[in-house]
Amino acid sequence: MKKLISLFLCLAMVLCAMSALAEGQKVGVSMPTKDLQRWNQDGENMEKQLVEAGYSVDLQFASNDVQQQLNQVTNMINNGVDVIVIAAIEGSSLGSALDLAKEKGIPVIAYDRLLMESDAVSYYATFDNYMVGTVQGNYVKEALDLDNAEGPFALEITAGDPGDNNANYFYSGALDVLKPYIEAGKLTVKSGQTEFTDVATPTWKTEVAQNRASSILASFYADGSNIDVWLCSNDSTALGVTNALEDGYDGEWPIITGQDCDISNVKNMIAGKQSMSVFKDTRTLAAQVVKMVGQILAGETVDVNDTETYDNGKIVVPSYLCEPVFADVNNYAELLVESGYYTADQLQ
Ligand code: BGC
Repeated sequence: MKKLISLFLCLAMVLCAMSALAEGQKVGVSMPTKDLQRWNQDGENMEKQLVEAGYSVDLQFASNDVQQQLNQVTNMINNGVDVIVIAAIEGSSLGSALDLAKEKGIPVIAYDRLLMESDAVSYYATFDNYMVGTVQGNYVKEALDLDNAEGPFALEITAGDPGDNNANYFYSGALDVLKPYIEAGKLTVKSGQTEFTDVATPTWKTEVAQNRASSILASFYADGSNIDVWLCSNDSTALGVTNALEDGYDGEWPIITGQDCDISNVKNMIAGKQSMSVFKDTRTLAAQVVKMVGQILAGETVDVNDTETYDNGKIVVPSYLCEPVFADVNNYAELLVESGYYTADQLQ
C-alpha cells in the first residue's frame, strides 16, 4: 500500500513539474484566415488544447493577407514565443520570418500546409493530402462504375490554390485515379481544362470557383447537355460550383466531391446537392501538434510517420500525416454529430 501511495505521489509530482514547465512557455499559432470555417476550428482547437496542456498561446489570424501573416509571425518571434505553429496562406512567402526564427533558435511547425523553400522548418503535421485526392477519385470511379459502365461521362474539375502546396497533392491524388478513364474516353472534359493551372482556384475562394464554373456552364453546357461529375478539391470550391449549377444549369444534378465537411456543405450533402466530402477532424490534427510541441520542448524524439514525401525545395521535412476519412450522407451523423464535432442543430 505504502509503495502504491509513493508511486502516486511520484506521478503527481512529475505531472505538476511537467505542467509547471509548460506554464512558462509560449506557443505562437498563426492561421491563414477566419473566412473559411475550418481555420476557425483549427485555431480554436489548437488554443484550447495548448491551454489545457499548460502553455500560454498567441493565436493570430491573417485575413488571407500574406503581408499581414508575415508581420504577425515576425512579431510573435520578436515577442519570444518558444515554438511557432504556422498554417501558411502562401507556402513560400514567409522566408524572412522563418530565417529570423532559425536565427533565434525557435522551432517551427508547419500546420496542415507545408512551408516552402526554407530550411527553418522543423516539422510538418497534416492530413495525408494525396490520400484526400485518391478518396475523391475513387468515389467518382465507384459511383459511375467506371470499370464496367459504357459512358462516356462528362467531367469538369475545380482544384485549389496554386500557392498552397496541398492543392497539387489533392489534384494529383484524384487525377491519378481518373486519368486512365479520361485517356480512354470514358470521361470527357468538354471545357478541355484538365491541367492543374487551368482548373486551380486562387486563394480557394468560393466566388472564384463559382465564376469559373458559371463561365464553363455558359460556354459548354448551355445546350442542355448533362454534367455527370464535378470533381472539386474542397468544400469552399464545391460551394462555388454548386451555386453556379443552381444559377445556370438545367441538366441532371452531377456528382460533386468536396473536403472538410464544412457546415454549409454537410447541409448540401443532406439536401442531395453534394455527394461526398472528406472529413479531416481538426481535433486530431491539433492533438498531434500539441504533442509535437511538448516533445520538441522536452527535447524528446518527435513522433513522425513520413520522412520522404514532403520536400519543400530546401529540405525534406519530417512529417506526421493523419488519416482523412470519407464522409457522405450515410455516415455524417456518426462521424460528425455523434463524435461531438457538430451539434445536430448546427446542421439543420
Ligand atoms: C486545406 C484544406 C482546405 C483548403 C482551403 C488546404 O490547405 O488542407 O482542408 O480546404 O486549404 O482552406
